[in-house]
Amino acid sequence: MTRTDPAHGRRLVLRAFVNTALGVLAAGLASVVGRFALVPRASARQQWFRGASLGDLDPDTPFPAVLAVARDDGWSRARVNETVFVVWDGLTGIRAMSATCTHLGCRVRWDNGAQRFKCPCHGGEYDAHGNVTAGPPPRPLLALAARITDEGDVEVRL
Ligand code: FES
Repeated sequence: MTRTDPAHGRRLVLRAFVNTALGVLAAGLASVVGRFALVPRASARQQWFRGASLGDLDPDTPFPAVLAVARDDGWSRARVNETVFVVWDGLTGIRAMSATCTHLGCRVRWDNGAQRFKCPCHGGEYDAHGNVTAGPPPRPLLALAARITDEGDVEVRL
């Protein structure tokens, strides 16, 4: 084989074509990955949502509030209902926690008689502060920021 061999020339052209194609693919992949790495996701842009009025709440009794939350994941936009529990101390204190079980994501319910949050899926239980008391959940319920407005509304930050 010599440098003037036509097969050698075709190999050079084919190699250049393959390298160019790989470069274009890598640039495209990098732009997609970069978009998700650099653009803040919906969960990173937290905002306050009205969850209840103080008049809806009994002191020290978790109240389920359903929040209509806009989700934008970069591919689609949707409005989803997010359930959280708000707990008022009867004075000025308010706290909130997610209703999503930390085991596999089922929605917990408040059992007033047992004074426990109970998960219907695998028997997980939490106390009124969201701490695990039984079952497989690995972590407490997610605590959320909450506040009482001057108008007496309870807002939760998601
Ligand atoms: S999802 Fe709640 S205990 Fe499994």
